[in-house]
Amino acid sequence: MRRKVIAGNWKMNMLPNEAIEYIEAFTPLVKDSKAEVILCVPYTDLFYCLMNVQGTNIKIGAQNMHFEEKGAYTGEVSGQMLKSIGVEYVIIGHSERRQYFNETDESVNKKIKAAFANELKPIVCVGEKLEEREAGKAESVVTTQVKLDLEGLTKDQVKSTIIAYEPIWAIGTGKTATSEDANNMIKTIRKQVAELFGSDVAEEVIIQYGGSVKSSNAKELFTTSDIDGGLVGGASLKPDEFSKIVNYND
Ligand code: 13P
Repeated sequence: MRRKVIAGNWKMNMLPNEAIEYIEAFTPLVKDSKAEVILCVPYTDLFYCLMNVQGTNIKIGAQNMHFEEKGAYTGEVSGQMLKSIGVEYVIIGHSERRQYFNETDESVNKKIKAAFANELKPIVCVGEKLEEREAGKAESVVTTQVKLDLEGLTKDQVKSTIIAYEPIWAIGTGKTATSEDANNMIKTIRKQVAELFGSDVAEEVIIQYGGSVKSSNAKELFTTSDIDGGLVGGASLKPDEFSKIVNYND
């Protein structure tokens, strides 16, 4: 059976002192969690968070990285830099980066490869826009993203990739996909992974749902056949609320 992985994406929120206070409050609430717990935090919080989660079951991720190792890329942070301070996960291709920072499937693919070259585990985001869903194109948009984003990876790399299905219309809007719709799309993604990399890989790969996940809908979403946990934005900013999502099965 696949494990459940629940990640918080703080986005551009939390100063270091707030991050430290959060971890102090959050740690005891999730210490017995059966799910794997990850906090994906701003660059400026990474080091503080890594120091403060030592000896706990909480893992730390970044929210983006550049695909080059180093060089004249003012303002960018490389996979090598993340790895050097002990970061374990990195979100790649979040829809906000695709939308506001011109990320493409090509750059997402390069970043995933660079993440693996630095022994970071990527959380790769895919998902359709509202107009694409309304035009009946949701499945083709998402399966194309999966194909292009994962192109050229080895089977082992895909097995340790986390895919997050985040329909863009459900992000930060309070509108959640129904558990049935989300589970169906995740089944479609798994089928696509099976066609591209084999059914053994598809059986193992973790596929999360993201988009207005809260403590009130987490259990319904995470107990479906194919949803292996969640990527949580707004509701991950409060330790109490996020701990209820992590402990959805209690
Ligand atoms: P919300 O949970 O705030 O809808 O955000 C989802 C998301 O974008 C997580 O990456």
